[in-house]
Amino acid sequence: MLGKFITLEGMDGAGKSTHIPHIIAILQAQGHEVVSTREPGGTPLGERLRELVLHEPMHAETETLLMFAARREHIDCVINPALARGAYVLSDRFTDATYAYQCGAKSVAADKIEMLEKWVQADLQPDVTLLFDVPVEVSVQRLLAARSPDKFERENAEFFTRIRQAYLQRALENPARFRVIDANQPLDEVSKVVEKIILSL
Ligand code: TYD
Repeated sequence: MLGKFITLEGMDGAGKSTHIPHIIAILQAQGHEVVSTREPGGTPLGERLRELVLHEPMHAETETLLMFAARREHIDCVINPALARGAYVLSDRFTDATYAYQCGAKSVAADKIEMLEKWVQADLQPDVTLLFDVPVEVSVQRLLAARSPDKFERENAEFFTRIRQAYLQRALENPARFRVIDANQPLDEVSKVVEKIILSL
């Protein structure tokens, strides 16, 4: 039996990572093996690439290539083997983030990303993508209140507006896969929405 591939997306500060333990608990209570992972990262090599890509200044296309290099490794070592044994894979970000950040915010050509996506993923796509959506002001406020920012989190409001628009556009183009969650509500309201989606899978 094949497992399911669930991805979490949203701007920095949208709060997606907060929901991971709850999602894992729901799926485990249903008897599923859950592999919780993240991008960039998810493998020892991918985590080293993450360090570089989040902290070193570089050309946006270099960033894109490194994201896909890490992703190639992640798919081969973690995602595909887990799905093949019937596990649920929960990834904190995946390729929609490359469309939102590198294409939407940093203007890397979409057809270049599409080419890499076909090369690296073949037919692999998430079964469901939870998009945590918040207004840009909320995301910026939450980031200011949080820990020391990485390279992406130091960007300005216009950068985050482009990310949000790119994510919402991806959701419009892939309505069967995306669930857009209004994450500008009290945490337990958002949790209830997340729970409903996961229970419906
Ligand atoms: P994030 O997922 O927010 O992790 P944390 O909560 O630990 O900071 O950080 C990952 C950053 O990487 C985020 O700012 C988005 C960026 N990113 C891209 O720009 N492109 C990608 O393809 C991926 C997967 C992430």
